[in-house]
Amino acid sequence: MLRNKKIILGVCGGIAAYKAIELLRLLTKSGADVHVIMTRAAQEFVAPLTFQTLSSNPVHTELFNLIAEREIGHISLADRADLFIVAPATANIIGKIANGIADDMLTTTVMATKAPVLFAPAMNVNMFTNPIYQENEEKLRRLGYLFEAPISGNLACGWQGEGKLAAPEAIFESALAALTEKDLAGRTILITAGPTREEIDPVRYISNHSSGKMGYALARAARRRGAKVLLVSGPTALDKPCGVSVIAVTSASEMQSEVMAHVAKCDVVIKAAAVADYRPLARNLTKIKKSADSTTIELIKNPDILAGLGALDSGLMPRPFLVGFAAETDALAENAAKKLKEKNLDMIVANDVSQADAGFNVDTNRALLFFRDGSSSQCGLMSKDQLAGSILDHVVARLTQH
Ligand code: PMT
Repeated sequence: MLRNKKIILGVCGGIAAYKAIELLRLLTKSGADVHVIMTRAAQEFVAPLTFQTLSSNPVHTELFNLIAEREIGHISLADRADLFIVAPATANIIGKIANGIADDMLTTTVMATKAPVLFAPAMNVNMFTNPIYQENEEKLRRLGYLFEAPISGNLACGWQGEGKLAAPEAIFESALAALTEKDLAGRTILITAGPTREEIDPVRYISNHSSGKMGYALARAARRRGAKVLLVSGPTALDKPCGVSVIAVTSASEMQSEVMAHVAKCDVVIKAAAVADYRPLARNLTKIKKSADSTTIELIKNPDILAGLGALDSGLMPRPFLVGFAAETDALAENAAKKLKEKNLDMIVANDVSQADAGFNVDTNRALLFFRDGSSSQCGLMSKDQLAGSILDHVVARLTQH
């Protein structure tokens, strides 16, 4: 996701400096070329060699380093950056930059760059709430600097409260967002993800192998592109995506209620969830005892949520742009095209779930996309994050004509 991106990672002196190592790992794993600048205080907490080894680039520590300045000086570093991240950012660095002080390698490079700058502050709670700090942060925000707010928790100084460095994953997500064009700004997108569970009794249920990975990848991608995202999620083991409103549901009926409660304010609905088609006719109030050699559970059809959304066309409510998924094990194209038509969709993403590297509970997928106008597009094997990006490219291209 960050291939060909040059990122400068500024590390300041604070106990959270060790967490910048994890952030560096996430950035390089995504393909970024990361150049680390450490303040003098940062080197008291973590050795530059750690960052140098993990970034495969020399670490910059001194402004007046003759060799470093000859090979790649601070101005050239600032000019070449696509993004500048300062994590952890101390009250000191934020105060200096807010007041135009450039007296070391990090502050001079931040001030010389035209790239977006993302600060991830970490400090004692009283420093963080100090009006001087708050004024400096506010000033930088007004000037277009980006912030990944610290979280609340037990601080290394013994205090409790706001000031803990945001999780490396959250900073990474904000970095991706900072580098993404906001072509979904002003749009509200509802995405469903994961399986539904249909209870048989207090200890058993009917469900499927959906992990939620496809839907969560779509939610993250849509949020990065500036959309307001509502994620209606069945039970999954995944972390809540940053900046996304998650509505947790269990059964198909609950999913239907939540989708219908929010659909009026949505521009787009993407149904990546694997909704159980049937539920037990009656839920046993107590655990069903093992007695006979075989048993029968009578099932009743669940509401088809997507078909219900497609039918809104004929009603008074304007219908959002509708994207369905088709999980197929055979006749992929035929079945998907049928679902597109029958459920009155704008687009359907057909995935062959019989393949080991696609569909349920894997990190990759391959799909055939079909559109209302009869056209189609093929997406070969790729990560679910990449497929989410391709699906949204098609949504953006068609949304203006909707
Ligand atoms: O979650 P992962 O592990 O990442 O796996 C991803 C996935 C395989 C679940 C996903 O890529 C996918 O294919 N989701 C749709 C699964 C599915 O239920 O397909 P379907 O062909 O049975 O349903 C067609 C469409 O109707 C789907 O958009 C589904 O959400 C919707 N539907 C189905 C039944 C129902 N009662 N209500 C619905 O809204």
